Amino acid sequence: MIHIFEWADSFVGKSEIELQRPFIERIHSMLLKGTGAGHEYLGWLHLPSEFNQDELQRIKKAGRKIAQQADVLVVIGIGGSYLGAKAALNVLQHSFQDLLPSHKKPMHVIFAGQNMSGTYLQELLEILDNHEVAINVISKSGTTTEPALAFRVLKQYMEQRYGVTEAALRIYATTDAARGALRALADQAGYETFVIPDDVGGRFSVLTPVGLLPLAAAGIDIDAMLEGARIAELELNEPDVFKNPAYAYAALRQIVRSKGKEIELFVTYEPGMHYVGEWWKQLFGESEGKDGKGLFPASADFSTDLHSLGQFVQDGTRSLMETVIRIKHTRKTLSIEAVEQDMDGLNYLAGKTFSDVNDTALEATMLAHQTGGVPTIGLELEDMSEKSLGYLFYFFEKAVAVSAYLSGVNPFDQPGVEMYKTNMFTMLGKPGYDKEGSTS
Ligand code: PA5
Repeated sequence: MIHIFEWADSFVGKSEIELQRPFIERIHSMLLKGTGAGHEYLGWLHLPSEFNQDELQRIKKAGRKIAQQADVLVVIGIGGSYLGAKAALNVLQHSFQDLLPSHKKPMHVIFAGQNMSGTYLQELLEILDNHEVAINVISKSGTTTEPALAFRVLKQYMEQRYGVTEAALRIYATTDAARGALRALADQAGYETFVIPDDVGGRFSVLTPVGLLPLAAAGIDIDAMLEGARIAELELNEPDVFKNPAYAYAALRQIVRSKGKEIELFVTYEPGMHYVGEWWKQLFGESEGKDGKGLFPASADFSTDLHSLGQFVQDGTRSLMETVIRIKHTRKTLSIEAVEQDMDGLNYLAGKTFSDVNDTALEATMLAHQTGGVPTIGLELEDMSEKSLGYLFYFFEKAVAVSAYLSGVNPFDQPGVEMYKTNMFTMLGKPGYDKEGSTS
């Protein structure tokens, strides 16, 4: 469902990939045996094939209940507890779903707790009165400041509006099985809860209730998404780097990095893929950017950003590589027709579709950027369906694990995220944080 159509072959020789083969094979067996650094977080590896069917039914049932209770679902979460669902909705929903006629309008999913803006939250509160509301609060640790603070405000809103008992029936919590403030709070209030498995880290959690419950509520076919991920789990369990596109992608990135490239630009040509770029940035940034290593993950929407970043990519500091996503079958095809006077001079495109022109833009840009010294990897995704997206999520999870191990770092921790929090807590006077910025 994903294949590599461009191997950056003017920058990377086949023999260089061949050299990676033994390392990849070792990492493959390390992943299967669970012997590498961070092995306690390998739950994502067999998640699609081992998904608990009772839990899946419960997620779907809660999704249906939310859809009956509310027309707006506020999903509270940040990082891995937010980006997966956001990316999936961006891919799968109508580009203008807010403006669809009401009988076609799916549940409106709004996000909160992914920033600390009082303006954003206040303005969200301002619109909620016009809607029936349900909340899904998501935090693996149950202690992250942004979602905890947003939930404090929204819980109060729900209790004032619906009363404590009815509010509790409209609030769903997704968190750790036993630990954290959110677990204690949810148990005490009697919310329906969903568990984020201990062995699945936040950024690998899109195929757990973290991503699946909001998606089920929005009417997304989560069975198809898991089916796509199951196919990926099977197909990408191939040790040979030349037969496994996830491993080849990991190897290519590391070879390009070893030749001095520092930034990887994740490029899409469909606006619906924008948040896949955001999800991908977190996955790769937090998994690889440590111990002074890693490619800085950036993303761009072409051809839009060719009119802003294009100059730099073509001609600026030569520190970039690109990963370009091509969609083989787009959701809609729009044909270009000939018009009588051809005043705009576009009749030469008559008979083509927008997809044809978009694909040509992709080909032309790739050629130009490679000529300009930007190694480019091209990944083709079958389409923008639930099944393909499930495959894509798993593909990048597997690729980043292998890529991080290839560069010698633990893919599954994120020690660097803590320092800003410690500083912030100290400055805000959180009990237990002393003036030097360390916990006491
Ligand atoms: O990948 C990660 O573990 C992080 O980015 C988390 O997803 C993010 O910090 C949110 O954490 P939590 O779900 O504990 O609130």
